[in-house]
Amino acid sequence: MARIRFITFEGGEGSGKSSHARRLADWLKGQGREVVLTREPGGTPGAEEIRKLLVQGEAARWEPMTEALLHFAARRDHVAKVVQPALARGAWVISDRFADSTMAYQGYGHRLGAEAIDLLRRLVLGDFAPGLTLLFDVPVALGLERAGTRNVAVAGADGRYESMGEAFHARVRDGFLAIARAEPDRVAVIDSAQPMEAVAAAVAAVLRARYPGEIG
Ligand code: TMP
Repeated sequence: MARIRFITFEGGEGSGKSSHARRLADWLKGQGREVVLTREPGGTPGAEEIRKLLVQGEAARWEPMTEALLHFAARRDHVAKVVQPALARGAWVISDRFADSTMAYQGYGHRLGAEAIDLLRRLVLGDFAPGLTLLFDVPVALGLERAGTRNVAVAGADGRYESMGEAFHARVRDGFLAIARAEPDRVAVIDSAQPMEAVAAAVAAVLRARYPGEIG
């Protein structure tokens, strides 16, 4: 069966994934494709409301399980109202973060564990999964430095996760890399410590390899 045209961009803070998601969307649009570029948490009015609850306020604002449930509530709305309808009409969908972020941040970062997150994922999404996930991997210290929050105890208004500290973000990185090792057919790791143009070239090479004949 053909790989579904649902591509997710994942990675820690300051990994550069959002710029490359926009760049890929522009590249595909330039080839005359309909592309929906979206993000999580968010992507629908309701999910954007939930996003504010998640990215603002104190680090300890939510218990880890409550936080995981909020991410999945937002995701359910996003998938049902935006992602699946777009795929059904033949559009490419590019999402800046998806379910792997919950595994990495809440499963590993907050230590809820892979089993709990996997149960929630199956309940909320069933078998629905991206056709391709690009994991933008960068050493934690460099990522936090790029995100401009290193050594800042309390980050800006939307910086709840950035304020969680290096040990938390190191577990998040380990989580993402464990997902990539477990699912090499779906997840490609991009070394995003490289210069921007090298990263863009790596993304293009992965796209051509994973969607043969579909990308110009
Ligand atoms: P962003 O900065 O990439 O827009 O993402 C917002 C924050 O939300 C980011 O710090 C990671 C966090 N996050 C989770 O903790 N779990 C999730 O499931 C998602 C989608 C994001």
